Amino acid sequence: MPKVSFPQSGLELEVERGVTLLDAARRAGLELESPCNGAGTCGKCRVSVDRPAAVLRRSGEPPAAEVLSCSTEVLDADLQVTFPQVVRGRDRVLLSGERVARPLRPFVRREWCAATDRSRIFHGDALVVERPGRAPIYGLAVDVGTTTLVVALIDLLDGRELGTLGAVNPQTRLGHDVLSRIQIGSEETGLAELHRLLADELNRLGAEVLRRAGARVGDLHEIVLAGNTTMLHLAARVSPRSLGRYPYTPALRGGTAARAVDLGLLGGAHTRVYFPPVFDAYVGADISAGVVATGLADLDDVGVTLFIDVGTNGEMVLASSGRLVATSTAAGPAFEGMNITFGMRAGPGAIEKVRIDADGLHAQTIGSARARGLCGSGLVDAVAELVRTGLVDPSGRFRRPEALPPELAALLVPHAGKRALCLARDADLPEGVVVLTQQDVRQVQLAKGAVRAGIDALLAHEGLVPEDVDRVLLAGSFGAHLRPESLAGIGLLPPESSRRVLAVGNTSRTGAEALLLDREARDELLELVGRTKVLDLAHAPGFERTFVRALAFPSRPVTA
Ligand code: FES
Repeated sequence: MPKVSFPQSGLELEVERGVTLLDAARRAGLELESPCNGAGTCGKCRVSVDRPAAVLRRSGEPPAAEVLSCSTEVLDADLQVTFPQVVRGRDRVLLSGERVARPLRPFVRREWCAATDRSRIFHGDALVVERPGRAPIYGLAVDVGTTTLVVALIDLLDGRELGTLGAVNPQTRLGHDVLSRIQIGSEETGLAELHRLLADELNRLGAEVLRRAGARVGDLHEIVLAGNTTMLHLAARVSPRSLGRYPYTPALRGGTAARAVDLGLLGGAHTRVYFPPVFDAYVGADISAGVVATGLADLDDVGVTLFIDVGTNGEMVLASSGRLVATSTAAGPAFEGMNITFGMRAGPGAIEKVRIDADGLHAQTIGSARARGLCGSGLVDAVAELVRTGLVDPSGRFRRPEALPPELAALLVPHAGKRALCLARDADLPEGVVVLTQQDVRQVQLAKGAVRAGIDALLAHEGLVPEDVDRVLLAGSFGAHLRPESLAGIGLLPPESSRRVLAVGNTSRTGAEALLLDREARDELLELVGRTKVLDLAHAPGFERTFVRALAFPSRPVTA
């Protein structure tokens, strides 16, 4: 069989003729970007081969040194494959976040009898098992993100966190975003595959975190799985088909439990899995867990609070006077660095901060590595700097160099026949530069417009204006790595709110933990979700106008 080697990672393997280069990379344990899942449309899976004649391009195009790995097959000869632009590094996984203090009253509890030296372990009011001695009881608080997974081991006797591990959600191999997972999971075999990938990785993480803490799997009693509605369906092995078509009704609404063994998840015969309630198809249990973690419904004393989790979808909840109203907008993958010319995930070499001053443009990369592309936070920073300096006008167009001071005009370079902002130069890069193109600015503009329009729609629904927002809580890694002034700078957040932004971290995970440790929080949350209004923006009157208004960048004079 031909041997395929990946010299950049020192891996090689033998594959049968006809296997695609993308599949060969996956079998080698490499995670190439493949957001269109092999449809041949995204162009992100491009690789270089040392022997173009040793592969077959399914498109029928002639042999070439650079090919799309998803649609190029191995023939009979050995070959080397290199990644010309973006090799996916290990993502930064946001392991933890904020959590308000709550009483310790877990669903799983232990009664120890001194006379018999035996432990009786209850799930709710039901006695499930008796053990000799003072038996430990553990739970796992899990955040199932579309991109990353976090598993935290919690001692249910005292609420202590005993260890936390994170990893990339292996489902990303099959599809990058929620919509592609819905599509794949709507077929029986796709659902089985997505579920298996997820369960295997959760089990691996769970077993490892238990092992490191010296804990036994048999003492694991409960797993709380928070995540968006699609992830919950896939974890519960429930078809997400209904989430992909109108009226987008979840088949699983959460607030329910199942046996771990029935879901192929680790634990003993008695281990249960609790799914927090979801608001709707696109405001999921990651957000409801976030509501618990931040105590959002109890923040009356601080006035109006906006909770936002921006990923491929912008999910948000507005809390005022004890009332919650929620919505979600399709922000698209731009904020995750997708569909951006030099976009990449937050990994080594990704530009994460950009600053323009009198000395020029300064780009800071993750790990201080050589710049290879830019991730979501660098992207927002770069566009905010374009807006702040007036390099782009409020409509999002690059200004003509003649209309700019020379030091700003010098930052623009021609790229593919158009003007672009030069972020880094490096002769070793395939194109010698990392740039931000006009098209990239448009992608950011569409994403920020969608989120801002969602915010404005929530405020309008409650009869409020941006000045009324007392506090913004930004959840997720997006919030953790972004500068609030950049978010306000591109107009994603109202300018008045940028000084009152709090990054609250991975509240899906801390919310799962809160639900693990406080059974009453579950009932409260269920009741709260039941009375929360979820705005359907697609059908909200005047939303088109709100969106178009939200697209414009703030107006700034041209200045370096
Ligand atoms: S072109 Fe999208 S995965 Fe290959």
